[in-house]
This record gives sequence, C-alpha cells and structure tokens, in this order.
Amino acid sequence: MNVLIVYAHPDSRSLNGALKDYAVAHLQAAGHAVQVSDLYAMEWKTTLEANETPGPDVQREQEKLLWADTVIFQFPLWWFTMPAIMKGWVDRVYSYGFGYGIGEHSDQRWGDRYGDGTLAGKRAMLMVTTGGWEPHYSARGINGPIEQLLFPIHHGILYYSGMQVLPPFLIYRTSRVDQARFADACEELGRRLDTLQAAAPIPFRRQNDGDYEIPALTLKEHIAPGATGMEIHLAEQ
Ligand SMILES: Cc1cc2nc3c(=O)[nH]c(=O)nc-3n(C[C@H](O)[C@H](O)[C@H](O)COP(=O)(O)O)c2cc1C
Repeated sequence: MNVLIVYAHPDSRSLNGALKDYAVAHLQAAGHAVQVSDLYAMEWKTTLEANETPGPDVQREQEKLLWADTVIFQFPLWWFTMPAIMKGWVDRVYSYGFGYGIGEHSDQRWGDRYGDGTLAGKRAMLMVTTGGWEPHYSARGINGPIEQLLFPIHHGILYYSGMQVLPPFLIYRTSRVDQARFADACEELGRRLDTLQAAAPIPFRRQNDGDYEIPALTLKEHIAPGATGMEIHLAEQ
C-alpha cells in the first residue's frame, strides 16, 4: 500500500513529530511505501492567489495524492481545527478540476462529490492531538463532540473529494503524555495503521445514491424524518 502522510507541526521534537516518526517506521516495517509532506519543513505557501492555477508545488502534492492508497492528515488541534498551514495546503491543492468542480450536473447527479471525485477509491484518516481532555470533547462536553468538530474536515474535505474516511486516531490531554502513555499511544497507533485497509469507514451518505433532493441537496423527507444536524448525513447512527 502507498501511504501519504500530510503532516503539520513546526517542531520535529514535539509529540506530533515523535508520532509521525513512529508511523513512518511502522508502515515501512510492514512493507508499505510512505511519503511525508512535512508542510513546515517544505515552507508550504498557504495563501491562494486570485486566479491561481496549480504551479509545480501544487502539482507535486496532487501527484502524491494520486499515488496514495491511503492519506493520513496529522496535526495538533489548534483553535478547534487544523493549523493554518494545512488549511492552506487544502485551499491550494484541492484546485478546480481536482478537488472540486468535477462531473456533470443533471437531475440525477450533482457533480462528482461527497463519495465520488478525483480521490474515490482511496482512504483517509486524521491523526489529531488535543490539549483538551477527552470528556471536554464528549457528547455533552463544553468543546463540542469531537466528531462534530471534525465533521467539516471529514465530510467537507476528505469525503467531498471521494475518499472513504476512517474514524480518527486521537490523543487527548497531551500535557500528560509521559513515556508510558506514549508507548500505549504508539501501540494503539500501530493497530490502527495495521488495519487501514480493513477498518470500516465512517458511513457517510453518498450524494448521488438517491438520498438527497437534487438540486436542493437536502436529505429526502422520508429519510430520518424530522432529524436535523450533521448526524443525518451518516447512513447508520
Ligand atoms: C495555537 C494553538 C491553538 C490550540 N488550540 C487548541 C484547541 O482548540 N483545543 C485543544 O484541545 N488544544 C489546543 N491547543 C493545544 C494543542 O492541541 C496541543 O498543545 C498539541 O496537541 C500538543 O501536541 P504537540 O506537543 O505535538 O504540539 C492549541 C495549541 C496551540 C499552540
């Protein structure tokens, strides 16, 4: 399997740096080919210009995505989302005709997106660390449930471009990661990396499978009647 790790952290000696090194070594030891886009080391340009067309830096990233069977996005949670450098990677690499603006629009089909698209057939997984504690991100936690905070990335970026999205690998309360907890985290991460191909993805509904009105793209009335919110876009809840 070919694995691309898109990695955003400014300090290679951080927890994220250590986890990234562990992931690369573990995947390679299992016989997989790994490429890492280390965005800070690459001095990735974050801002999309007016009328920008993909230059060599963007094309290289698009080629890596096409090469990959699985893409891991690894980052510390900063202000409840990915660091700006990674958002800038998405803004520029997901260019028109690659990340969006694909496929025909008709009464049955509204472009190739949400389950279809350039990256269909690939798998993606987020690897995220948080300073906040696990209960802070639980169903009634003050930060909001982690699956809802990550929904725009999972659904709006990864699934939008066609990838199947695996449940995230999360490490909470990073200030309390000592040697023992780091060892446990690596063990768990190793298990997750060993099952990248077999694990069940998050069951998002495909846009073009008949669940949505076209062109309103609202979930049809008879599906999950009366329900609202992000969860309705999951086929099983
Ligand atoms: C700019 C910034 C914003 C942060 N925002 C959040 C946040 O929204 N939620 C949270 O739980 N932790 C937040 N943190 C804490 C980081 O998630 C935490 O320090 C990181 O995951 C630890 O991993 P590292 O040692 O590899 O950096 C933030 C840290 C920084 C520097």
